[in-house]
Amino acid sequence: MARNQHAVIWTRVSGQPEKMGDLLLSGDQAAFTYTRDYLSSEQPGFCLLGDGRFWGDDSVSYPISERIPVFPRLLSLIPGNNPRNLQRRHYLDLLRKQLGREPPPGVETEWLLLLAGGHGGIGHIDVFTNDIAAESWYDRDTAAGSSATASGNRSQLWHMLKNNVLDEPVAFDPQLIEETLGPTPSVGGMIPKLLVSMTRGDTAANFYPPDTVGKTNVVLKVEPPEYAGLLDLEALCLDIHRQAGFDTPAYSRYDDDGLHFLAVERFDCMSANPLPMESLFSVIATGDHQFRETGDILLDELGNVIDRLAQVVNLAADTGEQLYLRFLMALLTGNGDLHLDNVALLGGVSDCRLAPVYDPAPMRAWPRHNLVSAIPFDPSGYADHGEFFVTLGSSFGLSGQEVQGCLDRALAATADFPDRLMALQRVPERQRLQLRDIVASERALLTSRLA
Ligand SMILES: Nc1ncnc2c1ncn2[C@@H]1O[C@H](COP(=O)(O)OP(=O)(O)OP(=O)(O)O)[C@@H](O)[C@H]1O
Ligand SMILES: [Mg+2]
Repeated sequence: MARNQHAVIWTRVSGQPEKMGDLLLSGDQAAFTYTRDYLSSEQPGFCLLGDGRFWGDDSVSYPISERIPVFPRLLSLIPGNNPRNLQRRHYLDLLRKQLGREPPPGVETEWLLLLAGGHGGIGHIDVFTNDIAAESWYDRDTAAGSSATASGNRSQLWHMLKNNVLDEPVAFDPQLIEETLGPTPSVGGMIPKLLVSMTRGDTAANFYPPDTVGKTNVVLKVEPPEYAGLLDLEALCLDIHRQAGFDTPAYSRYDDDGLHFLAVERFDCMSANPLPMESLFSVIATGDHQFRETGDILLDELGNVIDRLAQVVNLAADTGEQLYLRFLMALLTGNGDLHLDNVALLGGVSDCRLAPVYDPAPMRAWPRHNLVSAIPFDPSGYADHGEFFVTLGSSFGLSGQEVQGCLDRALAATADFPDRLMALQRVPERQRLQLRDIVASERALLTSRLA
């Protein structure tokens, strides 16, 4: 890799595109320097702990590694490294053509993927090769006319999804997909997904490029065959969280020609101004350079992370309690996949709060995901993990009475989960039964600890 790599970060956080600063990758270090104009505007920085209020004219720096090859906040702008990621497949195909050979795995290719798909993604920052590339991207046409539903384009999109997600040997033209949906921004996670826009309340699966005037931006998940029924389970868990009083995004479920979709409204861009959004993973990794993966922290250390964060950013007072409640809900719905990229903060240093609940899918329905918690905990010293999860509340600074309140609320909210789960006909019976047994035993463990 060339010794120095340069890129720029822009943002539309004010409603208008403007340059935020310059990004430099050199050797084993990433550095970011704000422009003077951006610094004096006092708008949110590119990540919470890299905000200009803390760094001023100094460059923000981060020691990169194979595992985290850029600033942690930029990881979500690189397509996730898994075989079903639609954007990684798409951009690797383009790179293969450009280079005339297989792009080598490693930091250099990740950097090229960041430049290719690192704009228009989740949150308020966009990465480009240079300022000219940024200006021309913001000038692109987002008028309502460029519909992905024109029949030729729509069938190309369906062919691409059938090929990439259902593994059906149907041909499609990547160029037409690009024209149909615009350059497809990177988005993380294991399940194939696209960032597109839709007409709110549409009863059919019609998709438009992101930011199309008059449409609603969504994260569109496409169900892979190895997880049959997953999107119905995820939709049920969004309902259960909403009915329990959690902030959750609106969603629509569609089935069309063998494809199954869950379109979840994006909460990072409800208006023209995208909101800063950063996963807990990114916040922790930016603050602690030894931290490289979810397994590097224990569940009962998170309360302390929140306390320390609250000393430097203006964090909603009930953040610890809300987080504890989310872990209880995950336990009682069989979601063992509540990892640090499945919790995020919205807003900047002066107004930071937990993002609404997303990705509450009860992954323990599938044996290979049957983990009590993706964030590790040490149950030794406790009679069982029911006792651990009750005690966990105090690590979030909650009193005995508050912990009791959280337990009552989570238990009440999930009481009818087994019945609603068993009614989901598209979920294979084996998965439903496995999940029903898991949540019954978690419930029994927790209730046995109650006074
Ligand atoms: N409604 C939403 N609004 C804004 N951003 C969202 C929304 N839903 C998801 N995201 C973002 O997209 C990312 C991927 O989505 P999600 O976690 O639902 O995918 P997944 O493939 O199920 O993930 P995982 O690998 O954890 O199973 C999230 O980490 C989050 O940053
Ligand atoms: Mg996720």
